[in-house]
Amino acid sequence: LADETLTDADILADPVAKIAAVGGTRHPGIPLPEDLFGESRKNSEGIDLNDRTILGRVATKVSTPLNWKPTQATLGAKEAVDRAVGGFAGWSARSIEERAACLDRLGNLLEEHRDTLMAIAVQEAKKTIPDALGEVREAVDFCRYYAAQARTGLQPIELPGPTGERNLLRMEGRGAWLCIAPWNFPLAIFLGQVTAALVTGNTVIAKPAPQTPEIAAYAVGLAHSAGIPEDALVLAIGGPEMGQALVEDTRIAGVAFTGSTATAKRIARTLLADDERPIVPLIAETGGINAMIVDSTALPEQVVQDVVTSAFRSAGQRCSALRVLLLQEEIADRTLEMLSGAMDTLIVGDPADPRTDVGPVIDQAAYDKLMGHRAASQNRWIKTVDVPQDGLFVPPTAIEVDTIEDVRREWFGPILHVTSWKAGELGETVARVNASGFGLTMGLHSRIARAADAVEDVAKVGNLYVNRSMIGAIVGSQPFGGEGQSGTGPKAGGPHYLPRFCAERVTSTDT
Ligand code: SER
Repeated sequence: LADETLTDADILADPVAKIAAVGGTRHPGIPLPEDLFGESRKNSEGIDLNDRTILGRVATKVSTPLNWKPTQATLGAKEAVDRAVGGFAGWSARSIEERAACLDRLGNLLEEHRDTLMAIAVQEAKKTIPDALGEVREAVDFCRYYAAQARTGLQPIELPGPTGERNLLRMEGRGAWLCIAPWNFPLAIFLGQVTAALVTGNTVIAKPAPQTPEIAAYAVGLAHSAGIPEDALVLAIGGPEMGQALVEDTRIAGVAFTGSTATAKRIARTLLADDERPIVPLIAETGGINAMIVDSTALPEQVVQDVVTSAFRSAGQRCSALRVLLLQEEIADRTLEMLSGAMDTLIVGDPADPRTDVGPVIDQAAYDKLMGHRAASQNRWIKTVDVPQDGLFVPPTAIEVDTIEDVRREWFGPILHVTSWKAGELGETVARVNASGFGLTMGLHSRIARAADAVEDVAKVGNLYVNRSMIGAIVGSQPFGGEGQSGTGPKAGGPHYLPRFCAERVTSTDT
């Protein structure tokens, strides 16, 4: 179906046709929902997850007010910790297989409740429909990946020793972990943290972001249905005061946090403030001033597609998103001309409309901050686009800056900063990006293999993306997490993540 053959009435009458129609006109690089699930996958009931009618069902649910009820009463911080501490003995005594089986069942339940979860993600987190689908898929992936990792990676290991001595290394839960999730991945990151902590034998107090409690509560309900006891996974809903009270509780055995650098540091300070308190691990994943470096050999069409995806998809509200585009001088004008054309094709609007590329930002505070920055840079705008007047729509905007150093903080929205660099200064350019102190994602577009190798050797980032977009890390393929101001390093969705939640214990026995 060609787009122009459809009227709005056709589209509203047939959401499947609507998706087929927009497939031809969306700018390249934003995957259609079927791409997000990759190959055909069926859930435990034999439902094909690539079934395009999902979009019609989600769109219908989105127009229905949320009517679920949390499965447990809202607890205070102390009660939540009491409950998770009390649940530790029982849960940690379960075998690795029992815990992994709970995660597999949760993965199945997430798939079965996918449409509802997507609808909540659209309503509550203002996710576009493709992003909501990606959100559920990533959550399912975390469940299955960590279940598999636990089965293979947490088994006790016999270590060598002198004759007559037996050395056994065991990986065990540490106690009650506090998992603090962000609003931008209110299901995927929320459940990623929670499932990693649970499968390693810990109990969990799960605190969602104050903007997105409903999808978290729904997910916790599914987790309980999957066999995870109510005192092994405890939901704590609240804002910063709740977070602070939980971190201050000296019974917490570890904290997994995704959010701002400033909050991560506040948590670290609180955890270390009390001399009597055990030293507990903090796994923090924060933000970045993520750069993409483009040299004169790069393929311009690909660059533009990847820039648009990386900077504007999800309204730029991903910690991985592109913030500073660094173009080699020789290609800057041409690339920006093409980028401007590509930005004209972006559809900004209602996230419940499957045609939408860019939805609103999360709340008024985010909107005000981003619009203030954008307005202050008005004389340097390279390109901006029209957006609907009603709603928290920040116009995707490209802003010229003189140097990388002019971007001093993470602007968490669809605002791209652009500057250029001179031929022969690739190494220096990477060094200047490194000097920001953040180290989450970096992009490189070059068709010179040696340049890519050289950047790989010196880039101080957790995730380097070469000749592709910089967002949408896949569980098990692109373990995700940064260093420096961007976090403590452990990579979610990677083979070394689960041990970070464990106590490692060695028993040496003289036989
Ligand atoms: N994991 C997300 C991504 O890769 C960012 O948080 O885009």
